[in-house]
Amino acid sequence: MATQSTTDVAIEARGIAKRYDDELALDHLDLRVDAGTCFALLGPNGAGKTTTVNVLATLTPPSAGDARVAGYDVGREGAAVRARLGMVFQESCLDAKLSAREHLVLSARIYRVPERRARVSQILDEFGLGEVADRPTRTLSGGQQRRLEIARAVLHGPGLLFLDEPTVGLDVAARAAVWDRLRAMRDAGSATLFLTTHSMEEAEALADRVGILDRGRLVACGTPATLKAELGGDRVWIRVEREAGAREALAGVVGVASVEAGARGLCVRVDAAPRRLAELVRRAEPYGIAEVEFARPTLEDVYLHHTGHEYAVDGGETTS
Ligand SMILES: Nc1ncnc2c1ncn2[C@@H]1O[C@H](COP(=O)(O)OP(=O)(O)OP(=O)(O)O)[C@@H](O)[C@H]1O
Ligand SMILES: [Mg+2]
Repeated sequence: MATQSTTDVAIEARGIAKRYDDELALDHLDLRVDAGTCFALLGPNGAGKTTTVNVLATLTPPSAGDARVAGYDVGREGAAVRARLGMVFQESCLDAKLSAREHLVLSARIYRVPERRARVSQILDEFGLGEVADRPTRTLSGGQQRRLEIARAVLHGPGLLFLDEPTVGLDVAARAAVWDRLRAMRDAGSATLFLTTHSMEEAEALADRVGILDRGRLVACGTPATLKAELGGDRVWIRVEREAGAREALAGVVGVASVEAGARGLCVRVDAAPRRLAELVRRAEPYGIAEVEFARPTLEDVYLHHTGHEYAVDGGETTS
């Protein structure tokens, strides 16, 4: 019999794999998401993000491994898992003939939402759909349809939300409003969020922890701050007119780990760059400074580093 777990872990997957014919779409993934947090899964097209969501949401069985989601086993207690989820699919799955309001009323009925009509009207307004609420969905714009799908997923106040590339196609204001809404759910401790995205901005805006998936494997996982710190220090790019000798001069500055030549000039890897900047500039001056640029690693750098592009000099070279 299904028993509600008392643990604070919302998702725990051990060695989940998914094989399609001769392709291993998920290669024995271990994953843990604490309750009340937001986890973002990043990765190139075909990395296995949607497959991961589908396995965790019990829409497809894993070929190996097991997972507990919202306290229940995805293999043996699928119905209990599904009852606790909200889901935004990557592919739209609305009925073209139904209106936005009809979609939401139907969902409210299925999940036995109290004060159905009032709740539906409220959420239509919250998602900026009040004015188009009674038109057939096929007459809504792409972004309006996407908003409707997110509204439908959160309507019944699920404890766990899976969002597969939720904000693709939304305008800037709508996207910010959706982020605010999702953040509020997480901050209230009322929901765990598991999202996939290609937007580093979205991951930065929402995620407590980020996982990077590449060819079915989790190649990095941690808080954005930790992942950035693991890349190893800041970068200062100094373009000088005469490179001969400049490299050696810069390498002698305290805190410098390496100096490499590249498309944007000399790339100096250095700890605590703001404190070293004056000395770096002083040493570079005799070689004719054309440009100085300073950057901390971003999540995009982390992503490129782990998915086959090195974060080094021009960020564009494939290392594999
Ligand atoms: N039903 C299926 N049958 C066969 N192969 C599949 C099926 N679904 C997914 N795959 C394969 O599994 C791999 C992972 O696909 P998945 O949809 O999980 O990737 P994704 O990371 O979500 O990519 P995207 O960013 O493009 O949405 C891909 O190589 C894909 O071709
Ligand atoms: Mg996908």
